[in-house]
Amino acid sequence: MNNKYVFKHISKKRWINMLFGVVTKPDNDWWIGRTKPDICHLSKLESLMFQGNGYFGIRGSVEEHYMEEKRDMFVMGTFDKYEDEATELPNLPDLVNLEIKINNEVMKLNHGEVSNFKRSLNIKNGEMTRSFIWKYNKNQYEFKFKRFVSMARLHLFISEVEVTPLTDNVRIQIKSGIDGQQTNCGTQHLVEGTKRLFNARFMQMQTRTQESKIKFALTEYHRIFLDETELNLNPHLKLSRRQIYANYSVDVNQGQTLTVVKYANIFSSKDKDLKCSVSEDSLLDLKKVGRIDYQALLAESTKVWEEDIWQNSNVEIQAHNNKPQIAVNFARYQLISNTPHDFGMNIGAKGMTGEGYKGHTFWDTEIFMLPYYILSLPHYAHNLLEYRYLGLIGAKRKAHQGCFHGAQYPWEAAMPADAESAPIWGNADIVTGRPMKILSGFLEQHVTSDVAYGVMSYLIATNDKIFAHRMGYEMILQCAKFWASRVEWNNEKNHYEITDVIGPDEYKEHVSNDAFTNYMAYWCMKRGAEIIADLRQNNLEVYDRLDQKINLKELFKALIQKSAMMYLPKPNTEEIIPQDDDYLSYKKIDISKYKDAEKDIEDVSEIFKDFDLKQLDKIQVTKQPDVLLMLLIFEDIFPKDTIIKNWNYYEPKTTHDSSLSYSPHAILANDLGLYDKAFEYFEKACQIDLGTNMESSVKGTHMAGFGGVWNTVVEAFGGVRITEKGLRVEPHLPSTWRSLKYSINWQGVKAEVYVTHTYFYVLTDGKIKFIYHQHEYQVEPKEKLVIEL
Ligand code: BGC
Repeated sequence: MNNKYVFKHISKKRWINMLFGVVTKPDNDWWIGRTKPDICHLSKLESLMFQGNGYFGIRGSVEEHYMEEKRDMFVMGTFDKYEDEATELPNLPDLVNLEIKINNEVMKLNHGEVSNFKRSLNIKNGEMTRSFIWKYNKNQYEFKFKRFVSMARLHLFISEVEVTPLTDNVRIQIKSGIDGQQTNCGTQHLVEGTKRLFNARFMQMQTRTQESKIKFALTEYHRIFLDETELNLNPHLKLSRRQIYANYSVDVNQGQTLTVVKYANIFSSKDKDLKCSVSEDSLLDLKKVGRIDYQALLAESTKVWEEDIWQNSNVEIQAHNNKPQIAVNFARYQLISNTPHDFGMNIGAKGMTGEGYKGHTFWDTEIFMLPYYILSLPHYAHNLLEYRYLGLIGAKRKAHQGCFHGAQYPWEAAMPADAESAPIWGNADIVTGRPMKILSGFLEQHVTSDVAYGVMSYLIATNDKIFAHRMGYEMILQCAKFWASRVEWNNEKNHYEITDVIGPDEYKEHVSNDAFTNYMAYWCMKRGAEIIADLRQNNLEVYDRLDQKINLKELFKALIQKSAMMYLPKPNTEEIIPQDDDYLSYKKIDISKYKDAEKDIEDVSEIFKDFDLKQLDKIQVTKQPDVLLMLLIFEDIFPKDTIIKNWNYYEPKTTHDSSLSYSPHAILANDLGLYDKAFEYFEKACQIDLGTNMESSVKGTHMAGFGGVWNTVVEAFGGVRITEKGLRVEPHLPSTWRSLKYSINWQGVKAEVYVTHTYFYVLTDGKIKFIYHQHEYQVEPKEKLVIEL
């Protein structure tokens, strides 16, 4: 494809650059950076430059302290609950801190003069670097920092600092340690614990959470070099409440370089790989690791990123610039560094990148992130779904508490066995001034179908029969059982319906027959009935086992009867599907002021500055897609014309007040042939965190937004869809792109798909079938199947 062709196809309007709040390089797809210290935007960069490995994660706070910083470190799945507050991931002692004093003056970027400043994150291996020249009292010093969280050793954090006085001989003092005075916005989850030094060099802090009694041990050790020579220095120790610091003092001549290498680890009593105790394991581990140098540890971590992640989830975009490529690389970096290494945990809405949403898991995982894992790294998808299987205990308890049967998944999930973890109180109401009650934990019930839908997508794409028989079918059937007990009979209308819920559009509370909720519940019941019929016919062993737990005969009857009589909102005379029973009767307002308003500022969405929820309840305004998401998921139910009419109706009424909103709009627009709109929404999805709004991401980045970036690239532009009939590939590239290449895994077979404007090919390492515009194609191993577009 030559450039002429591309230019011909670009409407002027679309020839724009994605605007990023970070610096990027045109020749490096794996690099983001900043060239200013940005003290007032530290929080945003801390979230963007997050480092993690799915076991633990650290925000990209810098080594020296600033008022504007928000240090956070979390270990996945270690939830704790403070009295009368929602359970949350405790903010653990800080390992990053390192104070440098030169001739008794603390190095800070808001003192003295700073030049040659560079800060960057290597998205390929998660290494963060920072360098600058600091001039103070006429003297100049060169600083270089680098650090990473190891992908190869799940407990390890390592950092290296180099200081070179350029103009004089100086005394440099280093203070570095374990600082347990961190809180979750004021809530201290950890007890004071104990602090001690082992072998004169290894500092350790042992502590535990207040309520869940999870134990932690953190060990830290330093190696100090003057130029190439390692100094045999024991630290001078300083202890105070919840803090243990090592202090070193070294005379450094002009031109010499002082290097401090910090090795640190964290172990918890939840670790499955514990050999002795948290304390002993942590100490022994660090003693071993402390002998290996930074570069060697980085190399082994980089190898894991390369071989386990990037080689299995390839996405290559040739476009007018490399911003889309950087965005999809960054999205995958953030997803993977926040994806649990273990099956008892799940991804929080903001991962471990900040305290927002308290580390809780939402439907975000199943509907927005799971496609990436299912199609790229299915073992991760397996783990994420196994968490929901363990969650059946809590989900059954939640159903029982509401006098229902089966399993009702919590709107916000923390420990798998917890019933509901959503907080109850939110921001102040603009009209009454009182805190608003958050009803999602009570009324946002579609998550139960979303989990079942995620399980089914995984089963279709992987054909993982073992998972289906051991866990998957049981989950879907328990969800179906919940809906069979939840739907209400309406005598007058002679149908089953669902009243008093919140749909994906959270502006509307206590609604009846929310379109998304009803269609998903119907799908869940129908799918449940099909699974029972199939098992009875083909696998009596599994049937009998599940029958003992669920009573399949009775459930089958209920599912058949209730799904047949279920009310599914139908298009009205104008072909519009009502979002709920009342939505279409509400007044319409001009929402242009609120559409795509800067998000996350002061925690209040723009529209809530003018209306409270009661008022929004009576206006045709939608937070994020509801009917449109339903139409995207159930694409075959309605003719394209109806879908377009609903797009034209609902899209202008949607504020996109959630990071989950852009990607489904992008994908649906692409499906409908609205290609400029699709690209516009793709750009917005890419800019949720990377964009120029320096207030977004302060409390963490948006995991579902990252899933949405990948979904848009591979599902919309790359055309891949997991359907009931199998794999579908119907690509359509944005006009500014020359080509797209991606890899997917379908039922154990690896496939590479390459797309241009005129043709695409599929190349696999095994036999695979896919559908392209109703035709089925079979690809033979290693044979390129080319289709003209
Ligand atoms: C959205 C939900 C989402 C949650 C967590 C809310 O603002 O409306 O759909 O699950 O954020 O991302």
